[in-house]
Amino acid sequence: MTQPPVTRTRVGIVGGGPAGLMLSHLLARQGIDNVVLESRDPETIAHTHRAGILEQPSVEMLTDMGVDGRVRTVGDEHRGIILRFDGESHALDFPELVGATVTLYAQNEVFVDLAAARRRDGGDVRFETEVLEVLDVDSDTPGVRFRSVAAGEEGPVEELRCDILVGADGSRSTVRKALQRDTEGEDHFHAYPFAWFGILAEAPKSSPELIYARSEHGFGLISQRSETVQRMYFQCDPSTRVEDWSDDRIWDRLQRIVAGPDGFTLKTGPIIDKTVLGFRSYVRTPLSHRNVFLAGDAGHTVPPTGAKGLNLAFADVRVLAEALESWAATGSRDLLDAYSETALTRVWKDQNFSYWMTTMLHARPDASEFEDMRVRGELRNVVQSRYGRQFLAEQYTGWPSA
Ligand code: PHB
Repeated sequence: MTQPPVTRTRVGIVGGGPAGLMLSHLLARQGIDNVVLESRDPETIAHTHRAGILEQPSVEMLTDMGVDGRVRTVGDEHRGIILRFDGESHALDFPELVGATVTLYAQNEVFVDLAAARRRDGGDVRFETEVLEVLDVDSDTPGVRFRSVAAGEEGPVEELRCDILVGADGSRSTVRKALQRDTEGEDHFHAYPFAWFGILAEAPKSSPELIYARSEHGFGLISQRSETVQRMYFQCDPSTRVEDWSDDRIWDRLQRIVAGPDGFTLKTGPIIDKTVLGFRSYVRTPLSHRNVFLAGDAGHTVPPTGAKGLNLAFADVRVLAEALESWAATGSRDLLDAYSETALTRVWKDQNFSYWMTTMLHARPDASEFEDMRVRGELRNVVQSRYGRQFLAEQYTGWPSA
């Protein structure tokens, strides 16, 4: 094969989702040359619904780093959540408990803002670009072979060579697969015996705050998108098919999950989107090898119950951007070499939180009566203790960055 044309850059970033674009943006601000390759087209990403709770440090990262203030105007600040079990609601007041709030702002909106900022600043972000192969992860100049697939047409094969290669390409990461194939490391998994059935409904809000509900019919989450569109989920079997669920059947299930002696009911309306979302807990260790680094879902995934995915990706990016800035300015690799350990400390804390929220709020199909009653005792412990509420609030709103 003839040598394809080579592009040289300091930092090659595979993946143009929120993690990859935020990293690209932070590096560009420090004058560090970088190229982003993303397989999807921007319209597809902009319209892919994803969970949208931003911790305060994530909001600050968007506004203080010059991305856009839209998160503060369009985003919806939330001062707490409601835990609902045994048919009773328990409100957690985050400012009162831990002096913090969260902002509901969908991930696709975060993407839109970051993509606009990279365009505005002249960033080299190549959408509809497929990575074919990851090259030389065990060398000083790793790279990738890629080609444009814009408008469904395969362009000629090209090569990108860089000093540092970052995999920010999501849970099916090509860069991680290359590390799994060519380097030592470990994959840590936890599977759950359930999935989420997610809907978007044209309906008014049923509650000012998000409701995390546990019931004998399983878990339900009442979230929001706007005054007129609501996002809700209920626990289902992973093999569930959306075709089997009519609107009536869905509303019936959701109403049962939130029902209680207080007579609370959901406001309903036409369902405009139905999806089944599988999930698992996963961590790759270490998160780097020589000059190749993983950030966000490429290196770890959490179940959505704790709403941590994007926040954890931004936390990785913060640590990695700082390490790359130090390396570019001084030539020292110290922070780069510490990246995996530094990032993983937070990853495992958030893994614990996401696992804890998930197991405490879902009903295991095979759970014994003992287990069911124990977990309701656990929920009572959390809401009836100020320390319990504070513990949950502190983790939900996010620790300060390292
Ligand atoms: C969402 O609005 O999609 C959402 C909110 C909170 C979660 C998960 C998903 O924990």
